[in-house]
Amino acid sequence: PANVGIHALEFYFPAQFVDQTELEQFDGVSAGKYTIGLGQTQMAVCDDREDINSISMTVVQNLVEKHNLSFKDIGYLEVGTESIIDKSKSVKTVLMSLFEESGNHDVEGIDTKNACYGGTASVFNAVNWVESSSWDGRYALVVAADIASYAEGPARPTGGAGAVAILIGPNAPLVFDQGVRATHMNHLWDFYKPELASEYPTVDGHFSNTCYIRSVDACYSLFTKKFTKRYSPNPEQLIKSQDLDHAVFHAPNCKLVQKAYGRLAYNDMLQDPENELYASVKEWAKFGHSEESYYDKGLERAMMQFTKGEYQKKVIPSLFAATNVGNMYTASVWSCLSSLLSSSSDEEILNKRVGMFSYGSGSAATFFSLKVVASTEKFRDTLQIKTRLEQRTKVTPARFAELLKLREETALLKDYNPIGDVSTLAKGTYYLLRVDEKFRRTYARA
Ligand code: ACO
Repeated sequence: PANVGIHALEFYFPAQFVDQTELEQFDGVSAGKYTIGLGQTQMAVCDDREDINSISMTVVQNLVEKHNLSFKDIGYLEVGTESIIDKSKSVKTVLMSLFEESGNHDVEGIDTKNACYGGTASVFNAVNWVESSSWDGRYALVVAADIASYAEGPARPTGGAGAVAILIGPNAPLVFDQGVRATHMNHLWDFYKPELASEYPTVDGHFSNTCYIRSVDACYSLFTKKFTKRYSPNPEQLIKSQDLDHAVFHAPNCKLVQKAYGRLAYNDMLQDPENELYASVKEWAKFGHSEESYYDKGLERAMMQFTKGEYQKKVIPSLFAATNVGNMYTASVWSCLSSLLSSSSDEEILNKRVGMFSYGSGSAATFFSLKVVASTEKFRDTLQIKTRLEQRTKVTPARFAELLKLREETALLKDYNPIGDVSTLAKGTYYLLRVDEKFRRTYARA
């Protein structure tokens, strides 16, 4: 099969949020720390009515309904998540309850885990399935979903929650470029979840930021080489970040994305330091890929300033959900692609190439790309991200803290009836009805 890529995207986020300016006041930090310093505007929160199973069911059912699909049309389903509520039973098997009525049980794929990277790994597996001898002619579906919450402290404003469903098949409007995925994986303790009974990670925040940027360097420089060799009309001249029409990143916070985009240009400059283009920032090339280059604030600011115009045009359209929902771990980078498609006209996006960077702590990262080859009207019509974000309900920071406390105390209980107010949920949202005395979970739909 040719032109394997994305046929449809659906994006679910919780219906309640906290305002980051109000959270700054509540937390007693200086005004602007979360909003300007981290680039975050609002953050989604769920109560005890939602878990990884429910948000995954919601996004899959909504995708199937909005696109008039039949569950029989899906031959592969994989879930990428790090929101683990069972050490054995996969989220994928819970999703099979949605397939029951169709009688289709012939669905390959299971769950994949590594921090924020599992969704991307699942997308690659799905693409590989469609391109392989195992393919049976049907769609592959990937769910990237997480509930991201942190213990009280500096990481808490970088939480969020969301789920993206990604429908994959041949002859798609968004086609993955072949042979250019550039991966970097290594063993790090930057962010991990060793406390199996807690939703909260153990995180070395500043270290995780530099791990992310180091992976940007490694993946992007390999990507430019692979891409130039395969697709560029001039194989002597490495492509540059300017050659990508859009850049979409995993977004733990939007400020880190801006730094990462600046870092692409920094890598470009190190490949071509005498180019006139870099005259205004050339002095920073002295840092090369040294240890200092990851910590020097002057270099970071200079590259952000240098790429400011391009960042506005090529990156900002993908960050609308990320700044208003927060980090969604595996779903984050796919929510950014959804934002870009939801907000771009055909004139803006048709025949354009999108570079994508996915990072999961621990660590696993890939830079890859796709091309938009047909109208994306269907994506705009069904995603409606801006409209749906405006329909959410704001909670106070005190209420936000209460909701996280409720999750903390009840997340893994048995014989438990959730108390969250079902009327706060958007129509079509699945929610937890009860966890019985044998830990079996049942759900209903709002
Ligand atoms: N106005 C404007 N900017 C401000 C203000 C203010 N009043 N106060 C602080 N800032 C800036 C700081 O200068 C800093 O910006 P800079 O890094 O560009 O200089 C930024 O706001 C954050 O301030 P810090 O003091 O660095 O924040 P802190 O140390 O409290 O926490 C961190 C930030 C480390 C990102 C924390 O939120 C965290 O641990 N988050 C989770 C980890 C994470 O997301 N890692 C990313 C990759 S791994 C993953 O995806 C999970």
